[in-house]
Amino acid sequence: MASGSTLQKAIDLVTKATEEDRAKNYAEALRLYEHGVEYFLHAIKYEAQGDKAKDSIRAKCVQYLDRAEKLKEYLKKGKKKPVKEGESNSKEDKDKKSDSDSDGEDPEKKKLQSKLSEAIVIEKPKVKWNDVAGLEAAKEALKEAVILPIKFPHLFTGKRVPWKGILLFGPPGTGKSYLAKAVATEANNSTFFSVSSSDLMSKWLGESEKLVKNLFELARQHKPSIIFIDEVDSMCSARSDNENDSVRRIKTEFLVQMQGVGNDTDGVLVLGATNIPWVLDSAIRRRFEKRIYIPLPEAPARLVMFKIHLGNTSHVLTDENLRELAGKTDGYSGADIQIVVRDALMEPVRKVQSATHFKKVSGPSPVDKTVHCDDLLLPCSPGDPDAVEMNWMDVPGEKLFEPPVTMRDMLKSLTRTKPTVNDEDLKRLQKFTEDFGQEG
Ligand SMILES: Nc1ncnc2c1ncn2[C@@H]1O[C@H](COP(=O)(O)OP(=O)(O)OP(=O)(O)O)[C@@H](O)[C@H]1O
Ligand SMILES: [Mg+2]
Repeated sequence: MASGSTLQKAIDLVTKATEEDRAKNYAEALRLYEHGVEYFLHAIKYEAQGDKAKDSIRAKCVQYLDRAEKLKEYLKKGKKKPVKEGESNSKEDKDKKSDSDSDGEDPEKKKLQSKLSEAIVIEKPKVKWNDVAGLEAAKEALKEAVILPIKFPHLFTGKRVPWKGILLFGPPGTGKSYLAKAVATEANNSTFFSVSSSDLMSKWLGESEKLVKNLFELARQHKPSIIFIDEVDSMCSARSDNENDSVRRIKTEFLVQMQGVGNDTDGVLVLGATNIPWVLDSAIRRRFEKRIYIPLPEAPARLVMFKIHLGNTSHVLTDENLRELAGKTDGYSGADIQIVVRDALMEPVRKVQSATHFKKVSGPSPVDKTVHCDDLLLPCSPGDPDAVEMNWMDVPGEKLFEPPVTMRDMLKSLTRTKPTVNDEDLKRLQKFTEDFGQEG
């Protein structure tokens, strides 16, 4: 989308909304306000630059939502919504209706579900089991819960029922969200709903509990399905007396939906991820029947991670070097290692940028690997016998020989990057694992 166009659309919509509002066409105004706010939120997320701009848009949104809320109330009190033939007027009746005959008949529900489809990413990321280093127990548990019941349904009959709720918890950057992506890729027969709970909570506070309900309903319609809720702690923290009413309703709805009383939860797996599992409400915790600790990676897993993140970038690291790096990175999370490698991968670029001398070497052409060139240029020290004084501006684009990543680059980047997880957090997580969890 062209930059700014969403913002312009949002502004147009609310301008129209205020016009309709003034002309007392409240229903239309309400629709336009809501529509406009959605565009604003989109603009904040993807277009607006700078915190100041974002803040001012946010403030506007609050204003419009306030007005929309008032209009909604007014409309509810004033005239009842037009009722279709054959449809009951009472709200309870509407809610009780089974979803089989609701298609196209319940506009509110349709609206919610279409909103949901925005919050939900029915995505197919391309992360394979093998891209995730280590975490064997967690992978096994997920296969048991997700892949096997679909592949061998007859194994899971009678008393042997697949897991309905799995919680992945552990320090930040250890691959919880990444693992969920692998599940989405590998479980390609099931529908994958990825919801960020902060999205659910902030965007439509007040309608959120209906969203939760609809989410589960949608999942049941498309079963087998997986609902992945990242950062589940922000939605399901312990209930307290002084919290917002709507937040409480969301939690209750969530409990009811996961319990599945009167709802058939067969074929729906709820996958949650968090790095602060102790804030979860105890009732919610119970509904995640399997709680898997995703720990910091051990040395062998770290070795694999170095390889994964190096990918096919040109380097001169030996297996011995990689083992040494894995040994030196005790306490680093997967994300930390990714940053170490990324920083080291930048070193060759920096070398090119700061070089004052280049020398001629032969090798495969950077534009076409099958062509061999004798006149490529590689950054070198001024003392090199073949050195020619020049800088990167003088090097033609297709003549640059990519300097390989060296062990020195890696060690340099390692001293610069410190692990992000601290001991205190680890202790708390270990305590939680002893109390409620299972090692992954
Ligand atoms: N086991 C792993 N194998 C391969 N890559 C990993 C692994 N763990 C982490 N990474 C890398 O680190 C990045 C961050 O991981 P991820 O987003 O899954 O962390 P997380 O556990 O969800 O953290 P948070 O709790 O902060 O959300 C991933 O994109 C991936 O590249
Ligand atoms: Mg995550």
